[in-house]
Amino acid sequence: MTSPSFFNAPPRFFKSIYLALVVVAVYASFFTSLPSKLPQLPKPHASIPSKVEPTSTVHDAISSDFRFSTHVSGSVSGNPSTKRIKAQSTQSLLRSHTKAVVQTIPQATKVHPTNMVTQPSQKAGTKPHTKPTETNSPMEAVANATLGFEKIIAINLPERTDRRDVLSLMSTMNNIKLEWHEAVKGEDLATKAWPSHWDKKLKMGELGNWRSHLSAIRRVVEEGYSSALIIEDDADWDLSLKSQLHMFAEKARIIGNVPLDKQTPSPYGDAWDLLWLGECATPPGPSDSQIFPGAGDQAHWVFRTHGGMACLYGYAVTQRSARMLMGWLLDVDEATDFAVGKFCSNHSCVTVWPELIGSHKSAGPRNRDSSISNQTDEAREKGETRNIVNSAILDMLGRIGPSPKLRVWPG
Ligand SMILES: *[C@@H]1O[C@H](CO)[C@@H](O)[C@H](O)[C@H]1NC(C)=O
Ligand SMILES: *[C@@H]1O[C@H](CO)[C@@H](O)[C@H](O)[C@H]1NC(C)=O
Ligand SMILES: *[C@@H]1O[C@H](CO)[C@@H](O)[C@H](O)[C@H]1NC(C)=O
Repeated sequence: MTSPSFFNAPPRFFKSIYLALVVVAVYASFFTSLPSKLPQLPKPHASIPSKVEPTSTVHDAISSDFRFSTHVSGSVSGNPSTKRIKAQSTQSLLRSHTKAVVQTIPQATKVHPTNMVTQPSQKAGTKPHTKPTETNSPMEAVANATLGFEKIIAINLPERTDRRDVLSLMSTMNNIKLEWHEAVKGEDLATKAWPSHWDKKLKMGELGNWRSHLSAIRRVVEEGYSSALIIEDDADWDLSLKSQLHMFAEKARIIGNVPLDKQTPSPYGDAWDLLWLGECATPPGPSDSQIFPGAGDQAHWVFRTHGGMACLYGYAVTQRSARMLMGWLLDVDEATDFAVGKFCSNHSCVTVWPELIGSHKSAGPRNRDSSISNQTDEAREKGETRNIVNSAILDMLGRIGPSPKLRVWPG
């Protein structure tokens, strides 16, 4: 009820009421519009420090052949210069990024990280159960024993029998078939066979790394493989790798404008030269990345990269791109992974961050981490694989390793 005195109030009084109403209206419209603004992609580079200090203990555990670099320019596309600067683990960056992003992922794309875990009762060779609707999916092959590639080539220095033991056992238990490829040491290469522009300041390990990758790629060319995934012998991945790869294949197709139902020789479509599945140094992708969720709320950015990447934990090539990449690597003047990064400036390279194939650091003396350089002798208590939520190696070791939680032999 309004009193008569209200009507007698001076115009100034109405003015202030009007002002108050306007302020309330502005606030109200701001708050009601918030929910529609929230589920936006975070600005991928906003919180990536341009230079980060080596703070985390996770990073300290990382060997020197793990080269973590950040894009100093803060840009993924273009031609960012990479610097080998030590950085804090991206895990914490990732956590803060993914929390926001996962909420934006439609429920329909959520996955069950199950189809990779090989239960002890599951016999090797049994056909994976697929839903009838998926039988004709052009992406179904990503779950086969070679992950949708014609071959998987694992590079291993013969002296690192320890790594071959672990990866052989782990991959077999997960129904993944590897072909082993013998790596070489730089010291064993004739100087005449070095790249003519080789930077002599680089380590012998880098030289061996170059030769070993080049030989693996040459094998793809010589054997005429239509495609191959090349991995290093310390590779590790999530137990849900096969479902992750299914989503990755879908996103790689979207990026390459390949219809999801188009039958192509590769389940990943026909618009790629290199699938960089195991890399380091890559910040979250650009805002037009395709995103899919993974284990433990972990979102993955899939995007086309034009360089500025490092580490060759795992990458796939086609017969055509193997020839081009081989030609590109014949004469390099820098570490092989950086050279592959440059190759990507002119080729269709699709990558995923965080990596789907990681680099496992085993428990025990840290000097076992790298074949490129020596580390301290200080022991690592527990094995670890950075950025991999449910490590297939740790799972395997936990079940049948030297100190199994559950001593059950599969089969
Ligand atoms: C897996 O699928 C790829 C692509 O179709 C194929 O080339 C490869 O031979 C398959 N691997 C196995 C073990 O069947
Ligand atoms: C990419 O192409 C440009 C010209 O189109 C050339 O200048 C550059 O050297 C090429 N880079 C690579 C990595 O092939
Ligand atoms: C690593 O240590 C061994 C033994 O001390 C030495 O022979 C080798 O040259 C070292 N390698 C590098 C890359 O520093």
